[in-house]
Amino acid sequence: MNDDNENSEEEEPHKDVYFSKLHNVDLTRFNLKGRILDIGGGGEGVIGQFAGAQVIAIDPSEKELREAPGDCLKIIMNGKDLKFLDETFDTITVFFTMMYMQMPDHLHVFKEMHRVLKPNGELFLWDLTIPDKPETDKKFYAIKLEIDIGDKKISTGYGTKWGKKFNLEHYIDLGKKVGFDITERQVNGETFFIKFKKD
Ligand SMILES: C[S@@+](CC[C@H](N)C(=O)[O-])C[C@H]1O[C@@H](n2cnc3c(N)ncnc32)[C@H](O)[C@@H]1O
Repeated sequence: MNDDNENSEEEEPHKDVYFSKLHNVDLTRFNLKGRILDIGGGGEGVIGQFAGAQVIAIDPSEKELREAPGDCLKIIMNGKDLKFLDETFDTITVFFTMMYMQMPDHLHVFKEMHRVLKPNGELFLWDLTIPDKPETDKKFYAIKLEIDIGDKKISTGYGTKWGKKFNLEHYIDLGKKVGFDITERQVNGETFFIKFKKD
């Protein structure tokens, strides 16, 4: 599991984690066109595994990028400050990455994604709504996922602290604020998917 638990214990890394029920994500139904920028493409590097050499994966963490499998170009870079010219990419993906950023950074990242997308380019965002904390001593919440990428299924989990107020409406508002149209939205339990289009 990838998490932002800086105190996780080596022997029992999941001791303090409250896991969701299993959620399925089927990537095979998505048509990711052209040159793809994957924001936060370290960790499992799911989009890199799915779309291979089409993908440029950026992540501020060298360690996370090194760990990510897949035949894509990996560059150490922060989503808040993309070192690409305007209108460079046909597609941008953000796969369970916004949940790891600080709320004040979200608007910067959305502005940057809009800037580097070509006209008619599409942004695909998958993330989760962190539920209210139930009666539990566990300090972290994690979503359990099985992701179908066609030739295999990836089983993983993404964890974070309780209390972050990120949800589907928050990202739709950000998208509209920076000039995107919303062309698809889908909720599956605690997870959701939103597709944005640049005019
Ligand atoms: C743990 S991964 C999970 C999702 C990942 N997309 C995957 O396929 O497994 C989330 C990544 O977001 C990265 N991240 C955090 N803040 C970021 C930022 N400001 N810009 C880009 N990536 C960021 C983290 O370094 C981490 O590698």
